[in-house]
Amino acid sequence: MLYNRVLITGANGLLGQALVHRLSRFPEYDVLATARDDAPRFTGGSCGYAPLDVTRPPDVEAIFEDFTPNVVVNCAALSDTSRCAEDPETAWAVNAEAVRTLAHCCRSIGARLVQVSSDFVFDGRDGPYAEDARPNPVNEYGRTKLAGENAVREAGPSKWAIARTVLVYGTAEAMSRSNVVLWVLNELSQNRPIHVVEDQWRTPTYVEDLAAGIERMLHFEKTGIYHLSGRELITVYDLACRVAEVFNLDASLIHPVASDFFDEAVSRPPRTGFLILKAESEIGFKPRSLREGLRHLAGEIDHPVAS
Ligand SMILES: NC(=O)c1ccc[n+]([C@@H]2O[C@H](COP(=O)([O-])OP(=O)(O)OC[C@H]3O[C@@H](n4cnc5c(N)ncnc54)[C@H](OP(=O)(O)O)[C@@H]3O)[C@@H](O)[C@H]2O)c1
Repeated sequence: MLYNRVLITGANGLLGQALVHRLSRFPEYDVLATARDDAPRFTGGSCGYAPLDVTRPPDVEAIFEDFTPNVVVNCAALSDTSRCAEDPETAWAVNAEAVRTLAHCCRSIGARLVQVSSDFVFDGRDGPYAEDARPNPVNEYGRTKLAGENAVREAGPSKWAIARTVLVYGTAEAMSRSNVVLWVLNELSQNRPIHVVEDQWRTPTYVEDLAAGIERMLHFEKTGIYHLSGRELITVYDLACRVAEVFNLDASLIHPVASDFFDEAVSRPPRTGFLILKAESEIGFKPRSLREGLRHLAGEIDHPVAS
């Protein structure tokens, strides 16, 4: 059997953990999971583990020398939009410069690089977007992610791919960052009222579907950009209501508001979301419906659902 030696960066994050578990199901992948921590935060998963801060070029080079990957999936990112605005230096180092380092290392050994990117590369004026839509980020996070997309091409012609995604929900072990669905669930479970924007549209993505889509990209050795998200374009307010419905919680606690209700310095694209026909037809990407994704998540976190 031909083994694909896969290096995963940011493997302790939400997507990183899901990808480790997904690839562990297939004997064709020999995985080295890496993250900043001394030890993995996940349990299970048949893979090696090594600490790696992607912003340290000598450490990245050493991992490449030791493991000699055929393919690298970069899940490391500063993915919190507000933190990117507060700390642009770190955001550029992780989301853009580190991608260039990874691309150069890939180029030097002929490895492929799959970069995970975001709907925030778009301005959100006319989503849902296809892969060939013109990026125009409106905040620092989006600008750094777009720079990362440009850097990945330095891995070499037909050696790069970009998996863009949208509002990812799901669970992982010892998460450093929550997500909208878990936040809504947590607040409503404690009967706390919440305000949720009704003027931001997204196609929410279940993390396990995203990991499955990336595995398909690896399997088919795809080059270029792929949009991997759920199919349903809904507002974040409607998403919160769907969470209440599926988890049998009190939807009257959810109050719809406009984005300017929050005193936030960061602007967010109003209407993103993706068209996923390319991924469906080329790699057989089959995301669950939002209801199915939420019900699956309920099983993962052992939470009762509405019948
Ligand atoms: N979550 C979403 O809604 C969403 C939407 C669109 C696109 N994306 C993209 O999806 C990808 C995965 O995001 P995610 O949702 O899994 O976010 P996440 O849970 O925040 O995972 C990112 C991981 O990267 C790690 N990291 C940060 N700086 C690093 C460094 N210097 N070296 C190594 N690792 C580093 C973080 O470590 P710590 O845990 O120690 O901080 C974290 O575990 C990112 O490219 C993100 O931009 C996410």
